[in-house]
Amino acid sequence: MNNFDFQNPTKIIFGKDEISKLSKEIPANAKVLLLYGGGSIKKNGIYEQVTTALSNFEVLEFGGIPANPEYAVLMEALKVIKEENITFLLAVGGGSVIDGTKFLSSAALYSGLDPWNILVNNERTFKGMPFGTVLTLPATGSEMNSGAVITRAETKEKFAMGGPGLFPKFSILDPQVVKSIPKRQISNGLADAFTHVMEQYMTYSVDAKLQDRFAESIMQTLVEIAPTMLKDEFDYNASSNFMWSCTMALNGLIQKGVPSDWAIHMIGHELTALYGIDHARTLAIITESHYTVNLEDKKEKLAQYAERVWNVTEGTLHEKALAGIEKTTQFFHSLGIDTKLSDYTKDYKGTAEIISKRFEERGWKGIGEKGKVTPTIVEKIVAMSY
Ligand code: NZQ
Ligand code: ZN
Repeated sequence: MNNFDFQNPTKIIFGKDEISKLSKEIPANAKVLLLYGGGSIKKNGIYEQVTTALSNFEVLEFGGIPANPEYAVLMEALKVIKEENITFLLAVGGGSVIDGTKFLSSAALYSGLDPWNILVNNERTFKGMPFGTVLTLPATGSEMNSGAVITRAETKEKFAMGGPGLFPKFSILDPQVVKSIPKRQISNGLADAFTHVMEQYMTYSVDAKLQDRFAESIMQTLVEIAPTMLKDEFDYNASSNFMWSCTMALNGLIQKGVPSDWAIHMIGHELTALYGIDHARTLAIITESHYTVNLEDKKEKLAQYAERVWNVTEGTLHEKALAGIEKTTQFFHSLGIDTKLSDYTKDYKGTAEIISKRFEERGWKGIGEKGKVTPTIVEKIVAMSY
């Protein structure tokens, strides 16, 4: 196992009706900005629960943060934070609202010239404005990590940011919020969380037995609950397991002591930036070709995954590794997620060249756990995903 430091300061408040505890978590004299997305919280009762819990606080609101949080919209929110002397941010939403809030937490205390530099230069944030979250959509793990991904439509770019100053102070996870989530977003959540685990697992063995089994158990849980989550009836227990699995998939724990990859995400973000494809679906597009192209480097873990997560018992190491890739694609299909770029856009020709050129220009000369995935290999992976 590799050396590691591990610190995750986010307090999790998990369970039925726990949104009512909100008032205990925010400093008494805080001036709060409540941030939310396109309005789902006003239709499903979450907005009422939050505002009731905050009735003794001074609260301003900023709604309209779009899926794939947009830089220009966030800059409007930043104006409100500054003009109104806001002291605490509360994100009520999914990954997009939480990520947008993380950017604002950083930008609100930023001493540099232009907050865009936080993104374009990936400047780490060591101190941000304090914020909490009420999660409405299990998927990204953003509620318990310190990373964010922000989109700028003007330049068709999507950049990651983060730092130890960007962990939420608290996150409230009430699985009842799952009731109103459209099936398309449930599928996205399952696929995104599953891929988060794979990116931290499908590398090479460092004999980290417990980390491997943490990762496998999250994947097994997601596979087990997926059919129930896709049914029309709401199931509280399945939703609880879904929500906690998504959080555990990306709160930093399972990546400690092991190498991680993240190539699928790095390439996937470009597909969202270029074509607006849902984040999770971009991952499903890239996964099979990434693992196929890099089979030799990942073979042992792919075979272990096939055995332990999918119960593949027959075949050589090579055959089991291939079976692991195939099972993954079948899993995405079982969620109703298409796995080829041409399923999403007719204008896919040339995408591989565009992405590899972007990586080259940004100096991303070698990504993946061994730094071996060069822009040329990225081009091959994307072309294989058409
Ligand atoms: O905007 P509203 O009206 O709230 O509707 C949202 C949105 O349209 C809706 N929704 C959320 N909760 C709902 C609900 N609808 C009904 N009932 C509810 N309870 O769902 C739609 C999608 O929401 P969004 O927040 O965009 O989804 P998700 O949580 O999948 O977040 C995706 C974003 O997170 C980033 C992605 O790149 C993408 O921008 N990621 C963030 C990560 C992180 N911070 O660690 C890691 C991930 O890999 C990912 O990159
Ligand atoms: Zn993701």
